[in-house]
Amino acid sequence: MNISIFGLGYVGAVSLACLARDGHRVIGVDIDAAKLDLIRRGKTPVVEAGMVELMEAVAASGRVRVTDDVREAVLESELSLICVGTPSAPNGSQDQSAILRLTKSLGAALRDKAATHVFVYRSTLVPGTVEEVLRPLLEGQSGKRDGEGFHLCFQPEFLREGSSIADYDRPPFTIVGASHPYPVERLKALFGHLPCEFHATSIRAAEMVKYACNNFHALKITFANETARLCEALGVDPFEVMDLVCRDTQLNISRAYLKPGFAFGGSCLPKDLRATLHMAKMRDVELPMLGGILPSNRSHIDHAIAKIMAAGKRRVGLIGLSFKAGTDDLRESPLVLLAEHCIGKGLSLRIYDPEVQLSRLLGANRRFIEEHLPHIGSLMHANLEAVVADSDILVVGAVYDGLAQALAQQVQEDQLVLDLTGTLRQAGLKGTVLGLCW
Ligand SMILES: NC(=O)c1ccc[n+]([C@@H]2O[C@H](COP(=O)([O-])OP(=O)(O)OC[C@H]3O[C@@H](n4cnc5c(N)ncnc54)[C@H](O)[C@@H]3O)[C@@H](O)[C@H]2O)c1
Repeated sequence: MNISIFGLGYVGAVSLACLARDGHRVIGVDIDAAKLDLIRRGKTPVVEAGMVELMEAVAASGRVRVTDDVREAVLESELSLICVGTPSAPNGSQDQSAILRLTKSLGAALRDKAATHVFVYRSTLVPGTVEEVLRPLLEGQSGKRDGEGFHLCFQPEFLREGSSIADYDRPPFTIVGASHPYPVERLKALFGHLPCEFHATSIRAAEMVKYACNNFHALKITFANETARLCEALGVDPFEVMDLVCRDTQLNISRAYLKPGFAFGGSCLPKDLRATLHMAKMRDVELPMLGGILPSNRSHIDHAIAKIMAAGKRRVGLIGLSFKAGTDDLRESPLVLLAEHCIGKGLSLRIYDPEVQLSRLLGANRRFIEEHLPHIGSLMHANLEAVVADSDILVVGAVYDGLAQALAQQVQEDQLVLDLTGTLRQAGLKGTVLGLCW
């Protein structure tokens, strides 16, 4: 393929070298004359394992050339990878000046091109940038339409500095956000041979995945480091602890607990987090990330409350009361907090939870209810149909076998359903289904 690469920093230079190594003809473009000169002489503009040898080899192959002429690069290639920097502005926002300036020039260059062209944005971009800012800019400058005179897509880059050639050859996955199959096909031709999954998705999801991945990496590092600080204060070996944590691939290093849904609760997570923070406080150990978890969980409950209140309905039906489906444990259930709030606001509340039968609740569980919702008995109904029929808004906080089918039959068109579980999106309910964050 004839490929142009704009921005020859870590991402662009490594892509240029690897694509040329794989037999493609590559034109590198940068505004930094020193970088262009280095590449022209077969040298690497970035310090990366393996790049010295690779740049030497690809320069000798005759498949690499560099220029500062955007127009020439667009006219003489069929696909462009855009890898310019998107650093932080002083207020934390993304400084998009380089990508905006470049996109303007790309659009102007496209005006003079008869054949179609694929623009692949690889710089990290805040979600919405490609569709709301870059596409209109390209269309305005070129006088052509996305999907007709050109194609654009977003492909997040996952390589890590220090191991970028190895990461190029073995990425965690390839993700292409596009609104048309053509750019996806072209990128499959370019990267489909890599030993990883290839996913086509929406442009915005592809933009967001990059942030979610980097935030998750930062979160993991901070988790290990906060755990280590607490271990140090307690005289425990943090390496041993984190090694054992990572050996659990069922609950810890797995998909478990990584699906959007409602807040956590129950008899373990909140109390153990509180004890952890107390241990740290007694030893003057700062754990801001772990300390932020319970307030964040509370914000999630407040988010659900705000949605219920915004609906402006008076008769609320709550499906689920225990802290998760499959148990009758009500201790620290976020659904109990929701119920308390509704009662406090004077809303009429009916609750259906087939796993909670007050007459059978014992010990701490019973005490919790007696303290938090002493009059709960009168609000609980054993019959789902009656709860659905008597509600203007149904808040679904748990799913049970057959619930989606039952709701598909019983919910009427004028009823609202607030789904806290994320499971009712395709359930075919007649009423209006609102998601908690979806
Ligand atoms: N560095 C990484 O490990 C990494 C990994 C994944 C994603 N990313 C993302 O990829 C993007 C590039 O990162 P990087 O580290 O390679 O950046 P970098 O700062 O190393 O390189 C950016 C290059 O773009 C050039 N440039 C600026 N304006 C230009 C223009 N108008 N035309 C042509 N070239 C221009 C600069 O001169 C520079 O050489 C960023 O959005 C970054 O967030 C980086």
